[in-house]
Amino acid sequence: MPDYKLVIDGGRELRGEAYVSGGKNTSLAVVPAALLADGPCIIENLPAIEDIRVLYRILKYLGAKVDWHPEQKQMAIDPGGVTALTVPYAYSQRMRASYYMMGALLGRYGRAEVGYPGGCDLGSRPIDQHLKGFKALGATIRDENGMLVLEGKLKGAHVNFDMVTVGGTINVMLAAARAEGDSILTNCAREPHIVDTANFLNRIGARIRGAGTDTIRIRGTGRMDGGNYTVIPDQIETGTLMIAAAATRGDVVLRGCIPTHMEALTAKLLEMGVMVTSQDDVITVNLRQGHRAIRISTQEYPGFPTDLQQPMSALLTKALGTSEVIENIFESRFKHLDEMRKMGAISIINGRLAHIEGVPELHGAPVWAPDLRGGAALVIAGLMAQGITEVYNPGTIARGYDHLESKLTDLGARISRAPLDPEENGNANGL
Ligand code: EPU
Repeated sequence: MPDYKLVIDGGRELRGEAYVSGGKNTSLAVVPAALLADGPCIIENLPAIEDIRVLYRILKYLGAKVDWHPEQKQMAIDPGGVTALTVPYAYSQRMRASYYMMGALLGRYGRAEVGYPGGCDLGSRPIDQHLKGFKALGATIRDENGMLVLEGKLKGAHVNFDMVTVGGTINVMLAAARAEGDSILTNCAREPHIVDTANFLNRIGARIRGAGTDTIRIRGTGRMDGGNYTVIPDQIETGTLMIAAAATRGDVVLRGCIPTHMEALTAKLLEMGVMVTSQDDVITVNLRQGHRAIRISTQEYPGFPTDLQQPMSALLTKALGTSEVIENIFESRFKHLDEMRKMGAISIINGRLAHIEGVPELHGAPVWAPDLRGGAALVIAGLMAQGITEVYNPGTIARGYDHLESKLTDLGARISRAPLDPEENGNANGL
């Protein structure tokens, strides 16, 4: 656990410009995908986040030659030296995206031994669809003392996913890219990071068509060169900053984003009365008067993203009227609302449905970041609140947001790190 907390002195409008970093979930797929290459790859625009640090350590552990320059947003990966094909649980449980080591190592070397993935606690998060896809491609899979051992010379196959899964789609795509023969994946997820990962793979020699639709066709190839690739901007960071701008009744210009990826959020913000305009790679958000309550129902892309449900619900705590939020993707993604009650927010949670009754003001309070986007939601609530909010467990936010505090500070927020007292170090989890 980090030995600091975030301290937010709320009630200030955000104003100014911010640059959006490279995509977390796209980078977490593209970096493992580089293991499929026969030559070195250079990945540009990588966000400086903890999850990338974990991946960096995993690649080093496997024997790849890796140079990571977080300040230059760049990682050079030469998989030539890979000798180990095992990702110990100590690494795999630190992040969700460790599951991509299965598809990448299995696809490239015909074997992978990987501990079960970790990541945010959002309820049950099985990976049965990933394993079903690997099996269809010819892998045998066994569980040896909590490690998944996958082996086999892969052959192209038809994989129809039982549900739309982002991780499953990418993972099976990785494995199939170097399989012998053609694969067809149906009922695929269509998120921008799936397209980005396919674009990267095609850049280094894969033959993938249809990414971004529900059917992906892959012609397996025996050889993939290295190459350079720049990952797309982060859709969820863009959305988080858009929401923070509205939540503080600010006026913010976001640069380096892809407005078409933000259509579901933009439509909801407009419905609430927030002003949103976009041109090229720039989005401007401002809000002058009170905003209206709305209904949100999370869906796979291009629907309203589950990853923005939590930040958005912070904004809804001060809307005029009662909002309805339906979380369709994950079992348990409302823990942040329990924390926001300590700040004066009113909500009723019933399974996957939450009602949020808008209140005129929030007040600062000590709160516990339950997960990555829930932590971002609490930061937004802290920016909206009168007085001091202390966010404990901020390490979960640093896992996925690149310099969130300094970006908000540059926009005029008062947010800083403070060391934990010895008692807090022992007891913070009980807050
Ligand atoms: N599911 C299964 N079986 C599977 C795979 C998924 O039942 O084999 C279920 C899940 O339990 C969930 C739903 O299908 O209910 C969707 O899960 P999906 O596989 O799409 O999600 P994921 O791969 O675990 C990625 C992102 C998440 C993001 C979701 C949905 C990464 C590393 N993680 O997770 O990102 O919420 O897709 O878009 O890409 C975040 O960034 O905060 C985050 C949680």
